[in-house]
Amino acid sequence: MKIDTLIVGASELVTLDTYGGQVPLRGKNMREIGAIENGAVAISGGKVAAYGETHDLLDKLEIGGDTNIIDAKGKTITPGLVDSHTHPVFAGTRESEFAMRIAGKSYMEIAAAGGGILNTAHRTRQTPIEQMVADGSKYLARMVSHGTTTIEAKSGYGLSTESELAMLQALRYLDQTERIDIVPTFLGAHEIPEEYRDSRADDYVNLIIEEMLPLVAEKELAVFCDVFCEAGVFDLEQTRRICYAAKELGLGIKLHADEIEPMGGTGLGVELGAISVDHIVEVSSKGIEALASSSTIATLLPGTSLFLGKGKFAPARELIDAGAIVALATDFNPGSSPTTNLPLIMSLACTAMKMTPEEVWSAVTLNAAFAVGLGEKVGSVTIGKQADITIWDAPNHTIIPYFYGEHLAEMVIKRGKIIWHR
Ligand code: NIG
Ligand code: FE
Repeated sequence: MKIDTLIVGASELVTLDTYGGQVPLRGKNMREIGAIENGAVAISGGKVAAYGETHDLLDKLEIGGDTNIIDAKGKTITPGLVDSHTHPVFAGTRESEFAMRIAGKSYMEIAAAGGGILNTAHRTRQTPIEQMVADGSKYLARMVSHGTTTIEAKSGYGLSTESELAMLQALRYLDQTERIDIVPTFLGAHEIPEEYRDSRADDYVNLIIEEMLPLVAEKELAVFCDVFCEAGVFDLEQTRRICYAAKELGLGIKLHADEIEPMGGTGLGVELGAISVDHIVEVSSKGIEALASSSTIATLLPGTSLFLGKGKFAPARELIDAGAIVALATDFNPGSSPTTNLPLIMSLACTAMKMTPEEVWSAVTLNAAFAVGLGEKVGSVTIGKQADITIWDAPNHTIIPYFYGEHLAEMVIKRGKIIWHR
């Protein structure tokens, strides 16, 4: 086999290949990250061809004159990060609401007064799609520079059939033209649009079910359907109706669940066989039990808790100790979490939610890959998986969340090609 690229001499290689990289890690297994000292990875045809201790690997492999050798002395090699919950296509920014929250208004108060998601939706409908693609491309480039190689990305600022489809088309275009891979999610049920306020929410739910979802499925514009299941937004019954319709059409389910009020969205997600339930700051003990005995992934978004200044975070320890599968993501969006920096989210998960560095690594690689339906292809350094790899200017995996808010990604490799380096 011809080796195209060989990365050698890393002070640590974190593989996440402990159990063959074919199942997400739950509970105490989240600490088994498969670390190897003096590690090396060989890449062939865009895939991982071999990995191991550097001397062992050099003995085994035949290196040709045209093999690109990367010296990773003093560095850590990990799988490329997977950001499994983002909203990267939108018009404008919402720094005025940031200022309002600092002055004491809550996220939901601002939303009820026509700010929040509706504010962005209003601007999104009036902005040419080219502008949002240009902004999106800038945000995606920032994600890559932080070590991220795959993301899930949602629509949800159009809130009309035409505008939601345009957002999904923009995501498809970005997936084809940008270096990062994008898994698209339809989030028409992100908020009730202006025209359907005044007790017409059910009419909007009908529009989603009868018009939007069939078009999204027919044009194959999304892999998942998501709903903001929250008091004052979509209730449990409306969420259930939308999700059953989406499932009928072959879409997977994700939910914004139990974020602000304990609504029972987590239990509903498990009942629906959702691939993930996200936020779950207010999950009940029943919800935790349900997650522990199901394959639905708990995606925690501590950046949102920090940025909304609520001082309350999802119960990561209880979830992991109960045996749930936990992933972490940025929730990048203009309202509640304007950051593309997934390593910062890793630091927060350690300090604010008491996850161990090893649990955090599982949560942004292998478990996140399963949370976007790509666990068999990415998320671990496993022979045959895509060679999506990040090299960090750090001697071990703990240093990366430890230097919080710093920028330690040094080289980012996607399908065996260097797509970014310092
Ligand atoms: O995940 N909670 C709902 N949706 C986003 C916020 C979107 C916005 O404020 O623009 C979230 O936090
Ligand atoms: Fe979100």
